[in-house]
This record gives sequence, C-alpha cells and structure tokens, in this order.
Amino acid sequence: MLKVAVFVSGRGSNLRAILNSSKLRNLIKVQAVISNKTTCPAFKIAEEYSISNYIVGNEENSISYNNISEFLKSLEIDLVVLAGFLKMIPNDMIVDFRNRIINIHPALLPSFGGKGMYGMNVHQAVYNSSTQVSGATVHFVDETYDTGKIISQRCIDISDVGSPEEISERVLAVEHELLPHVLEKFALNKIIVGNARVRVLP
Ligand code: GRF
Repeated sequence: MLKVAVFVSGRGSNLRAILNSSKLRNLIKVQAVISNKTTCPAFKIAEEYSISNYIVGNEENSISYNNISEFLKSLEIDLVVLAGFLKMIPNDMIVDFRNRIINIHPALLPSFGGKGMYGMNVHQAVYNSSTQVSGATVHFVDETYDTGKIISQRCIDISDVGSPEEISERVLAVEHELLPHVLEKFALNKIIVGNARVRVLP
C-alpha cells in the first residue's frame, strides 16, 4: 500500500475523488490530510473517511513548516499530494521528498502557471488568452511554482465556452479522473522519471 498525505486549502473535491476511487481502494492509504487553514472545508471529507487532520503553520497545535518534513517521515509517507494547497512547500521537504511530491494544476502547464496562478485566476487567464483548449496537469513539485516535471495531462476542448466559470467546471471534471489515475500509476510503480521527461507505463 502506498502511504499518502494530501495537502489541501479549500473545498477538497480532488481529495474526495481520490477517496472515492474504487481502483485506489487496495492500492493507496491516505494517512493524513494536512491544511494551512484551521477551518478547511476539506477536513470534513477527511473526517467522513476517519482520516486524521493536521494543521501546518504557526497556529497553536499546528505543525511548523520547519518540522513538516520530519513529521511526514514519522508517518512513513511515500507520496505527498498537493490538491489545492496554496502555500509554498519548504525547501527541505522538497529535497527530502524529491520526486515524491505531486501537484494538480487546473491548466495545461507550462502555460498558465506560476505565482498567483491559482483558482479562478487561471481560468480567467485561459479565457482571456483565446486559447481553444485547456485541461489539467499533474506534475512533480520542485523549488518554484508549477515548474516541476510534468507527469500526466488531460486536454479539453473549450472552443464553445461562454465564461471562465464554464472552463473551471469542465477542467475540474477531468482533474477528478486524472489525479486518481496518476496515483494508481504511482502505486503500481509505473512512473519512470528520466532526466528531461517522465514516462507513464501502460
Ligand atoms: C483544483 O482546481 C486544483 O487543480 C487546484 O486547486 C483546486 C482545488 O480544488 N490546484 P479542490 O479543493 O480539490 O476542490
């Protein structure tokens, strides 16, 4: 079983997609859900599934960013999933968990990523750009926002959309397929990290 920690800041629909996935049931175990927000809506989902919640930050009873890497090691976490986590991951954790932290981004990287590119900002930028396609990207996390190697992407046609909100809805639907798919590949050791590219074996 692949031991997973999921970092969240918001509603947690991707967390739910992971937990609902029948394919993942015997392949992964979500050991912890971690948020920078004490009242994170995704915590409710974790509670439904009897998964422990933790807060990272400076609040009382939280795990400090300085200790988060050691904490994950103490839980023997194999893979960290950022599913709508809005804070920067500390460098020591990136080094300790090199190629073991993944993020889901609601656009086709390397376009429409970087600092400030989250939530509706992304879909608004995609809408304004007049591009006819968007999609979702799962990538490794490195020291800067949205620049780690791309693992897998899903593309969608947005030629007929009338608003950024419509793009957001369509992208979210493919995120919910893509993230469990990538986790399945991780659990089955079917992700090969090369120098320039990542290969996902069938
Ligand atoms: C998703 O669109 C994800 O791509 C982005 O943040 C959003 C999180 O949504 N990184 P949810 O909390 O999983 O519903």
